[in-house]
Amino acid sequence: MEHTQIKEYIQANKQRFLDELMELLRIPSVSAKPEHAPDMLQMAEAIKAKFVAAGADKAEVCATKGYPVVYAEKIIDAKLPTILVYGHYDVQPADPLNLWDSPPFEPVIKKTAIHPDGAIFARGSCDDKGQMFMHLKAFELMMKNNSLPCNVKFMIEGEEEVGSANLGAWVVENKQRLKADVILISDTSIIANDTPSIDVGLRGLAYMEVEVTGPNRDLHSGVYGGAVANPINILCKMIASMHDENNHITIPGFYDKVMQLSAEERADLNKAPFNLDNFKKDLNIAEEQGEKGYTTNERTGIRPTLDVNGIWGGYTGDGAKTVLPSKAFAKISMRLVPNQSSHEISDLFAKHFERIAPKSVKVKVTAHHGGEPVMVSTSSKAYNAAATAMEQSYGKKPIPTRGGGSIPIVALFKKELGLDSILFGFGLDSDALHSPNEHYGVFNYFKGIETIPLFYKYYTASIK
Ligand code: BES
Ligand code: MN
Ligand code: MN
Repeated sequence: MEHTQIKEYIQANKQRFLDELMELLRIPSVSAKPEHAPDMLQMAEAIKAKFVAAGADKAEVCATKGYPVVYAEKIIDAKLPTILVYGHYDVQPADPLNLWDSPPFEPVIKKTAIHPDGAIFARGSCDDKGQMFMHLKAFELMMKNNSLPCNVKFMIEGEEEVGSANLGAWVVENKQRLKADVILISDTSIIANDTPSIDVGLRGLAYMEVEVTGPNRDLHSGVYGGAVANPINILCKMIASMHDENNHITIPGFYDKVMQLSAEERADLNKAPFNLDNFKKDLNIAEEQGEKGYTTNERTGIRPTLDVNGIWGGYTGDGAKTVLPSKAFAKISMRLVPNQSSHEISDLFAKHFERIAPKSVKVKVTAHHGGEPVMVSTSSKAYNAAATAMEQSYGKKPIPTRGGGSIPIVALFKKELGLDSILFGFGLDSDALHSPNEHYGVFNYFKGIETIPLFYKYYTASIK
């Protein structure tokens, strides 16, 4: 399909494209909270209906052990290549609600400094409903113009934000039906609206929960304080000891398998424009911090991390209660890079945590979900098609970058389906994903819808 024709169709349907996305953003499809189960099912049905309306041959809400996967396809010719699009319809919880300037499930468009054309404010607007829905509208656009150049399959899942625990089994059971040539995913970011980029790596994840138990019950902190280990004090010390003065992680063996990049590869990575002042200003921090010897881009792209996500125990209510608590808890995640393994790192963490615990406490370590890191080749036909498409729609060649986030299912797609993924994201890191006031640029939404059909065109042409 010609670029001008694509732009004309978008122009003619702009308001409807926005309205339809707003409809989906009003459904609070929060996978982490059981009370939203009916919304999850409503969301799955709503997406299925959109696929039918857009012209899919088949559209189905497929049961899994958890929330359903929406599957749809349009097969035009078995001899043509097949693109498999992945996205997720679930969103993160909107909490803390009081920090939102407008209700999270009542989308509104407001202008911002970075989005002068306006941005849609709602939970899931960028991650990932807005980005997922670009694919649906791009599909509609190609169908209505009789210019879908290849076959396409869609799998839109409902459990990405809670670790995709049931998707793996569904993928394995549906290997035949998921046969494709490449996977296309819009669930990552670009550097800036005038600086397109394509993620060529994602970090993996090992997510742990720890419980530290001191005395058998909460104690009077005066009667016993000073003579009995306080599990919160101990937990804080243990956590603090897991980074050294250079912000290296101290778990023995943690870095053993970390892929070291050549000086040239690192220089390339650091060519990507990055403005430290804007970064600090956006986050209102006086100074960045991280592992010694690495730039900010490297710290988020090619280096592993260990972060406390939450910590609790004792008395946290109003006023003051004097108590020496019996237990302390923390949720600790580690972002992993090639070639670390989520299982190995979880084991190393558990062993280390047990080893450093003083005799005065008992510890329990459990592993939550994990995922493996991924790398994407820049020399494939699919990468080239993606880069060509972006170059045409943005008027600039995209820069290959490493994304700091995780999409654990991408490694599984490679393992189970043998397929590479193209991380064709259009959001911005500053769009407040997972945070209050998440938003997605109107420019970004339409740029995605404009660029996706170009990918179809160039990819199909490169395979024939
Ligand atoms: N879309 C994000 C991942 C992402 C965002 C990658 C921006 C690169 C740039 C995804 O929805 C996400 O949030 N993933 C989780 C992992 C999951 C196991 C909860 C994450 O990265 O924390
Ligand atoms: Mn996402
Ligand atoms: Mn997310």
